[in-house]
Amino acid sequence: MAEERLLEIDNVTKLFGGLAALKEVSFTVSPGEIKAIIGPNGAGKTTLFDVLTGILRPTSGTVLLKGQGTVGLRPDQITAMGMIRTFQTIKLFEGMTVLENAMVGCHSRTGSGFLATGLRLPASRREEARIHEEAMGVLKDVGLERRALEVGTNLPYGQQRMLELARALASRPEILLLDEPAAGLNQYETGELSALLSRFRERGITILIVEHDMGLVMDISDEVVVLDYGEVIARGAPEVVQNDPKVIEAYLGIEAD
Ligand SMILES: Nc1ncnc2c1ncn2[C@@H]1O[C@H](COP(=O)(O)OP(=O)(O)OP(=O)(O)O)[C@@H](O)[C@H]1O
Ligand SMILES: [Mg+2]
Repeated sequence: MAEERLLEIDNVTKLFGGLAALKEVSFTVSPGEIKAIIGPNGAGKTTLFDVLTGILRPTSGTVLLKGQGTVGLRPDQITAMGMIRTFQTIKLFEGMTVLENAMVGCHSRTGSGFLATGLRLPASRREEARIHEEAMGVLKDVGLERRALEVGTNLPYGQQRMLELARALASRPEILLLDEPAAGLNQYETGELSALLSRFRERGITILIVEHDMGLVMDISDEVVVLDYGEVIARGAPEVVQNDPKVIEAYLGIEAD
């Protein structure tokens, strides 16, 4: 029986002028898996997420989400199919409360077109009450329920990261793409993040994570894909990849023996 595939990336290339940010990248993600993508700065990790989420169109190659091609679809259409991402740089909505930020995530699933209609238009009151409750639920998941009425951008950095996760979670994704979620977190917060991602997995959420924190990667991932200059140079179990001479060379820029 063929391996079950939630996400299939096949021969994806992305050129920026003469620069190949991604070169014939292929790999698959199975349901329930935590897969990490690592690689030096500029390796193409964020570009890959941009392609997967419909922000960028690949120069060539295909992406299948649950067997359906996503190239050419808009980001909101891909979100509605069950795949959502967080960004390397925090992108919270200016002036919105923590709760409102989380509610935006709920709206991205209901497809009630939050951005077009805005929070204040009279969706049915029952619908709003349900969204309110769901948003509070995801805030509780990430430990932010007591901050619900504060302005999101006023939170300490680590909590803003958690709010981004909550907002993504609110869309009830099947697969979550996280771009360096531990960046800027202290060791304690990184530990909390690790526990949180394990809980997401227990709930059946598949995770693709770009991360420089090797401790976190080793801790949570089932498999690691290594990108270097846009190419997959290694893949496999974390402890195997970590000792791969090609990977050591890519990171240290020296010939490993
Ligand atoms: N919009 C763009 N136009 C031109 N070049 C780009 C664009 N976006 C990214 N690049 C280039 O593509 C390459 C891959 O960049 P990308 O941001 O995907 O790397 P990354 O692996 O996410 O790096 P980091 O670890 O620093 O976040 C880099 O050389 C970058 O300068
Ligand atoms: Mg990046």
